[in-house]
Amino acid sequence: PAFSVEVLTEIDSTNTELMRRARAGTLSPTLLVALSQTAGRGRRGKAWVSAPGDSLTFSLGLPMAPVDWSGLSLAVGVSLADSLHPEVRLKWPNDLWWHGRKLGGILVETANPGATQGTGRCAVVGVGLNLATPVLPEMPAAEMPAMPPAGLRECLPGLDAGALLLRVLPALVRDLQAFEALGFEAFAQRFAQRDALLGQPVHTSDGLTGEACGVGPDGCLRVLTPEGMRDVSSAEVSVRPC
Ligand code: BTN
Repeated sequence: PAFSVEVLTEIDSTNTELMRRARAGTLSPTLLVALSQTAGRGRRGKAWVSAPGDSLTFSLGLPMAPVDWSGLSLAVGVSLADSLHPEVRLKWPNDLWWHGRKLGGILVETANPGATQGTGRCAVVGVGLNLATPVLPEMPAAEMPAMPPAGLRECLPGLDAGALLLRVLPALVRDLQAFEALGFEAFAQRFAQRDALLGQPVHTSDGLTGEACGVGPDGCLRVLTPEGMRDVSSAEVSVRPC
């Protein structure tokens, strides 16, 4: 599909901007790239802070009407990982990992997801990828990530933001079309091959401990606990290895 490309030096958040347009009913297919974000957002209300020039931040906003939205952000992760490097792994639901360290994240938002076909249903697919290995600011030990973040230049030396965008975008557009037609089922096998948590002991933010057993057809994480198999929804909980 055709979409317009906008590159801004600064914005609050590329996702926030495209969601504003989607809610106002004015979102046409758009790729919005920002050189810096003043209020970048991650999942579950977290801030996304990235170094201008040393990262790629963009959102792709497009009208979309899949039969089922489940697993869209996982499908985006699969698409990016496959474009990047065979050793990039996906940490459910939507972090990209380089040998256990976070390379970037995905924030998928939807506008009017339940509306009837053809009435303003949109997806905003936000992607933040580190090029350089981030230097963490001073922070309390309790807030430090278990593993330091990673940068793509560790596996793709010399990569710049423009080349990175061109590397991931064609497959991402194709994969979004495939998702719209076929749903998460078409990505489940590729996700399984990249699943960083598979077989690992995990702890969820709502207090479950068990072994990660892959994802279900709806993109839920399956966790084998002493009480049996539980399905964990990405809307509700976060997961960390333990
Ligand atoms: C996460 O790690 O929880 C997801 C991070 C997603 C960050 C990207 S950067 C471009 C787009 N705009 C935002 O405000 N967030 C996403």
